[in-house]
Formats: sequence, C-alpha cells, structure tokens
Amino acid sequence: MEINAPYEINKKGHLVFDGCDVVGLANEYGTPLYVVSESEIRKRCKRIKECFMHKYTDTQALYASKAMSNVAIYRIISDEGLGIDVVSGGELYTAIKAGFPAEKIYFHGNNKTQDEIKLGLDNNIGCFVIDNDYEIDLIQKTAFESGKKVKALLRIAPGVSVNTHEYVCTGQIDSKFGFSIKDNTALIAVKKVLESHNINFAGIHCHLGSQIYSREAYYEAVMIMISLLGQIKQEYGIEAEELNVGGGFAVFDYERDKYVDIADFIETIMDTVEEQCSIRKIKRPRVLIEPGRWIVGESGITIYTVGAVKEIKGIRKYVSIDGGMTDNPRYALYNALYKGIAANKAAEKCTEVVTIAGKCCESGDILIKDLNTPALEPGDILAVLGTGAYNYSMSSNYNRLTKPAMLMTNKGEVRVIMRREDYEDLLRYEQI
Ligand SMILES: Cc1ncc(COP(=O)(O)O)c(C=O)c1O
Repeated sequence: MEINAPYEINKKGHLVFDGCDVVGLANEYGTPLYVVSESEIRKRCKRIKECFMHKYTDTQALYASKAMSNVAIYRIISDEGLGIDVVSGGELYTAIKAGFPAEKIYFHGNNKTQDEIKLGLDNNIGCFVIDNDYEIDLIQKTAFESGKKVKALLRIAPGVSVNTHEYVCTGQIDSKFGFSIKDNTALIAVKKVLESHNINFAGIHCHLGSQIYSREAYYEAVMIMISLLGQIKQEYGIEAEELNVGGGFAVFDYERDKYVDIADFIETIMDTVEEQCSIRKIKRPRVLIEPGRWIVGESGITIYTVGAVKEIKGIRKYVSIDGGMTDNPRYALYNALYKGIAANKAAEKCTEVVTIAGKCCESGDILIKDLNTPALEPGDILAVLGTGAYNYSMSSNYNRLTKPAMLMTNKGEVRVIMRREDYEDLLRYEQI
C-alpha cells in the first residue's frame, strides 16, 4: 500500500495541500513558509500502529525527532502513543516542555555531555542509548552522583552497509557511531555495562542509515543483532529485554518512482526476529523501531516566491526563490532530490526544465537541479514537496536570512506553530 501525501488541484488551477490552497497560504502568511500536515502525520502514526504495534505484541515505535523537533510535533506524537528518540539536550528540553511522557524518551547521540545526561536523569527519561566507552563511564558516574539507576541500550555498529548517500550511512564498521560488532568490541562493552552498578543493561540498538529501500539490509542487521543477543546469553547468562533496529525507512522517491511500504520492512524485521530467536533459543525481546523521515518527510512542503530568472542560452535556466540552503540544506549536503510544483500554475503543462536556486552566496545553494515546470516568472509560487524531515531541523541563519514561519494544517484548517523570525531575532543574543 502506498501512502500518498494530501495533494490536489482546485478549480483555480492552484495546488491544494491538506485542504489548503497553497497560493492562499503564501498570500496570507508570506514566503518562504514551511507547511506541515497534522492529518498526514497522524495517518502515518496510525499506519505504524496498525502494521507494527497492534499487529505484534511487545513492540514500540519511537519517532526519531531529529527529523523535525518542535512542541507541536511532540504533542501529536505523544497523543498517538508513540515514543521518541532525542539526540541532544535541546531536543530533550523541547520534548519535556511539550509535556512528552519522559518514560517514552530514548536518549541517543555519540557524545552526550554530562549536562545532557544530567538533564535526562533529572527528568527520569526512559532509556539512554550508550554509544561508546566514554559514555559508559560518564553515564555511570553521573547516575551514581544522582543516586539513580538508569536503563540503557548499547548502540552496535553491525557492519551492514546500505545503498544510500555516504553521509547518511551509519551501520557500517567504519562509523563514528556505536560499538563495533568486530573483534568482540560489542560483547566486551556489554560486560562493562553489566559491571556498572548504576546502569541497567536492557538490550541493544542499531541504526543502518536513512532513506533505505532494501529489506535485505534489515534482514542482515537483525540476523547479526540476534546472533549478538545469543552470544550475550551464552557468555553472561542474560536475556536482553529490548532490541531496537533503528529507523531509515525510505519515503517515496519521485525521481526514480520508487517506494517500499513500511509494512514490508516491518514484516521482514519481525519475521527474522521471531525465526532467529526461536533458532537460537532466546526469549524474543521487545522490538523497537525509530522512523523519522517516514513520519514527517512527506507530511511537509515549503512554499517560496520566484524572483530572478536567468537563462544562460544553451546551458541552463536558473530560477531563484526567496529561500534556499538556509531552510533546506539537503541538496547542498547530499544532493537530495525534491519535486517542485508551480502552485499557481499547477494545472498547466510543463514546458521547460529549470534549476531552482536559493538566495545564498554559495554556488551550491540549489534546491532542485532539473525541474520540469510550466514557465516560471517573478511572483510565481513554488511548492517544494516532501520537505517535512531534516529541513526545519537543519535550518540556519547563514547570510543572516531569517527562518521561515511554520504552519500546521489539518484538512483545511491552519494554525501557526512557529512564527517567522525577524531582524530583531537575529540580534537577540548579541551584547550590543
Ligand atoms: C539513531 C537514529 N535513529 C533513527 C533515525 C531516523 O532515521 P530516518 O529519519 O531515516 O527514519 C536516525 C537518523 O539519522 C538515527 O540517527
């Protein structure tokens, strides 16, 4: 089953997103503008519950909140009954302020500071995911000082490479993340945690990367992780409570017209877990997944106004918009592919191929390389689709551009969840 994001074209020939005329939103709230659909996010959470949490006992999905972290999204995720993963004090603080249930928060990251660990401890979060030896020591010391015993998973680098951009591959041996499966490193780390009196070893975690299409990668990872659980039982006589296999489930790839339903990945994961646990005679642990992009990626769009149009005859036509790598650095970072639609000309035929450029002083500030579109002119409204994940959360003020506002839509209803930054915001931290 394919989950299609909520797009239509209305009688005016305008693009409609989640029941809202995109041109109308641009006129009323200005551009650039992030728009996120609450109904789409909820639909996706429900799908995850249907094919994972309700289908298999003892399972839990965590929203990987690095994809988009703000109070509004944490409240929706909490309401839908999912947990979250956070990777910094800032994400944790935002979640706590949003009233997110602390016991459903997993704290990731490869270099947690003592202050961040303390923030987690003070708020009684559910679990720390320990990334390296230094963190075992620091979490043990900080928990001891706080007089607490914390639940922890160990992050493992299972040595599984996936076919995605190298900057979003994380499960290979040569990675900054996790204890390597090689040379017994992971097994030795488990022993160290078992000997740490203020840490309660709960199980293991891995995360292979992002925008993964291969079910085989998850199969391979689960095989390796269950084999490690078998070794842990054999060596230390304990059965782990939890196995967390991370996120990375790909969203629709417009360019290649490629899609794999999340239910298919989950089926592969769960079938392999059940089979391998039975073969190795170990108790089937609680299984967790951590989708980020799959929940919010296609639930968001960004709206821009077209400005300068420049044609270099026989070479390329550049169409510049009023945002760019500051609100969406993903093309500049790893050539991420996006689809754009001229929102005020959504019913018109595409007649040209153009490059959509941002307004920053960087040649790499491009959003879409070869976009098929009706002719674009200054004042046209361009919607870039599928920008809900890793856009707002990766945004910056480079060139002192102010960050866009963010709207949340729900079947035609609109609310501002983040106001537009203004120039005064840029001076807020300066000691003038
Ligand atoms: C530990 C961990 N879990 C989950 C995710 C979510 O990945 P995605 O948004 O591709 O599902 C990430 C993303 O980098 C991650 O680092």
